[in-house]
Amino acid sequence: MARKDVIRNAYQLCGGASSFYDGMMTYATPAGKAICRLVWNMDREKNLRYITEALNGIPEDFAGRLLEVPVGTGVLTMPVYQQLPDADITCLDYSAEMMAAARAKAEHLALRNVSFVRGDVGALPFDDESFDIVLSLNGFHAFPDKEAAYLETFRVLKKGGTFCGCFYIQNGCRRTDWFIRHLYVPKGFFTPPFETEESLRKRLAGMYEDVRVTAVEGIGCFRARKKTDDLSVG
Ligand SMILES: C[S@@+](CC[C@H](N)C(=O)[O-])C[C@H]1O[C@@H](n2cnc3c(N)ncnc32)[C@H](O)[C@@H]1O
Repeated sequence: MARKDVIRNAYQLCGGASSFYDGMMTYATPAGKAICRLVWNMDREKNLRYITEALNGIPEDFAGRLLEVPVGTGVLTMPVYQQLPDADITCLDYSAEMMAAARAKAEHLALRNVSFVRGDVGALPFDDESFDIVLSLNGFHAFPDKEAAYLETFRVLKKGGTFCGCFYIQNGCRRTDWFIRHLYVPKGFFTPPFETEESLRKRLAGMYEDVRVTAVEGIGCFRARKKTDDLSVG
């Protein structure tokens, strides 16, 4: 099944309408659609486009080790993992509640290739160079210590491995910037400083090679490869 179809089906499969958060992430509920449109200036097509772009770093026949951080409720990724039976997938999040929802989806889909670890992206409990892919969806705008998160995701990635995902970037959509500044930051959902499309490109280019950054409104999607000849970054 094409990745786009997997994501589209996932919205039904995983009961996307069962919670406010999942409904928003998957454009599945009236409230979720309203927030996507009002805050993010995204319709269904844009929503699907940014998720597809963010997941593009994962080959459709991927069979290596993947770390997803933060997994949240897993609404965007559990159905993708169902299509990767030979992969060895580790999902990490700080919040036990969010991860319990992800675990329930994994159980519902009878996934045997996924395990869950509670932890902090700023101090990942994994050895250096343990993963072929590190995936981070909608996390960096929330992480309090972004520098530590960049270093840790880099550290646990194998040389030649892929770092990919997406998160909020400034200057992509003025309306989104307004809501982030006046609502999301005061409420503690998001934590500054935030990247712009350009600053993200520059940062990743300083650490990785084959860097690709694209924006869909206020979401920056990225994919980059860890250099094979690097000893360290920091
Ligand atoms: C907006 S959610 C994104 C979840 C999921 N990737 C998605 O796209 O739906 C942000 C998640 O980051 C997690 N988080 C925040 N700070 C963290 C940290 N320092 N280490 C690990 N997870 C963290 C939160 O618990 C939350 O589940």
